[in-house]
Amino acid sequence: MKSFVKIGITLGVAAIMTSCFDKSRPNYQYFPNMYESVAYEPYQEADGFKNGVEAQLPAEHTVNRGWMPYDYENTTEGKELAMAELKNPLAADSLSYDKYVANGKELYGIYCAICHGDKGDGMGPLAEREKFLGIPSYADREITEGSIYHVIYYGLNSMGSYAVQLNEKERWEVVMYVEQLKENLTK
Ligand code: HEC
Repeated sequence: MKSFVKIGITLGVAAIMTSCFDKSRPNYQYFPNMYESVAYEPYQEADGFKNGVEAQLPAEHTVNRGWMPYDYENTTEGKELAMAELKNPLAADSLSYDKYVANGKELYGIYCAICHGDKGDGMGPLAEREKFLGIPSYADREITEGSIYHVIYYGLNSMGSYAVQLNEKERWEVVMYVEQLKENLTK
């Protein structure tokens, strides 16, 4: 008789436990946060930081690694100053001159020749198809290493800036190649 009661209780408990089980819904979860994490928004406000924003601003008076500040302003005076006094730091390394110019030539082919032409005469494909007007021949412009660098950095009127595409060393390499093109044009 006792065992009947035991069997009855066991069946009863089993029935209670399984009757609420629904296959289409998740079962009891241990630490539900581990299965369904809290959905934070990117850049949402966060208490942990001083300015309240999760994306942190760089510390003051610091620059990105590999980024060099450029002191000349994007004005006519800035360009004239750069033309007069900005010097190519790579020029001192005469042993690597050919390597720099070769790199400059490659980069020029990628970024500049489409307008300025392979020879720097202003007759690139975009000029020939009249997609872009007013592209000069380097021969007709008064340019120095400093002013070429300045123009690559900021662009000039309808020419855009190449400061993002080229790093500092690459800009100077392109400058060296442009100087060589100008020399060939005016020879
Ligand atoms: C989309 C066409 C275009 C591309 C690409 C382009 N330029 Fe120019 N560039 C121009 C135009 C247009 C001018 C004339 C701007 C003016 O004087 O108003 C110019 C002017 C110049 C000048 C003369 C600036 C002066 O002081 O008189 C230099 C040097 C120069 N570009 C170098 C470059 C170099 C180096 C590149 C590649 C990194 C390049 N350009 C890419 C269109 C272009």
